[in-house]
Amino acid sequence: MKRITIAIDGFSSCGKSTMAKRLAKELGYIYVDTGAMYRTVTVFALRNQLIADNQLDINTLIALLPQIEVGFTPDGGVLLGSERVDEEIRSVEVSNWVSKISSIKEVRQKMVDLQRAMGKDKGVVMDGRDIGTVVFPDAELKVFVTADAKVRAQRRYDEWTTKGMQVNFDEVLQNVIDRDYQDQNRTESPLRQATDAVVLDNSYMTRDEQQVWLMKQVEKVCCTPI
Ligand code: DC
Repeated sequence: MKRITIAIDGFSSCGKSTMAKRLAKELGYIYVDTGAMYRTVTVFALRNQLIADNQLDINTLIALLPQIEVGFTPDGGVLLGSERVDEEIRSVEVSNWVSKISSIKEVRQKMVDLQRAMGKDKGVVMDGRDIGTVVFPDAELKVFVTADAKVRAQRRYDEWTTKGMQVNFDEVLQNVIDRDYQDQNRTESPLRQATDAVVLDNSYMTRDEQQVWLMKQVEKVCCTPI
């Protein structure tokens, strides 16, 4: 069976990671969560006091980049050096700073080099914002995921309230809208749909329907039924 590169890009809170992980499992492919990589660099910046008084010391971060080792364990854990940071990368503080960190050209260059190395043998599902446009412009299958902003906000709201967090729906919706704007309007590798991407609007799809849709796209590209 032909092994391919699958790039999954799209808006935040569309469930890209969950769908990419499931697809990789079904195909026996590697899964790479590139957002987790930018989050791990953010953990490094916070731990090394490069963020203080609401300011990020960009020059020092760039100077320290060669020391920052980002990786994954075979079971999908996220590593900073030899330490697992799976929980820490999801903290509110990291979420607040990761957009800024991921907009730095030098940080992106380092992450893109690592991502290309991880996908060099194909058989990879990689999700992010610039995978089909910058990291693997020759990927055999590119999926651009979108969903109605209100539906995405409702999913986040439900997830957080189930965990017992006190959140206000309008604030969650505003956060989704702001993140879309930031992702699409930054100077470095803004989020945009690759011209040869297939669009998946999963506003009203179940996870199973989505998986069936994705496998159909894979079969179209690979020609061989999986
Ligand atoms: O997918 P996520 O929410 O974990 O991504 C975290 C941040 O990293 C988000 O601000 C977008 C950014 N990102 C990026 O710039 N490029 C990628 N390939 C993946 C994520």
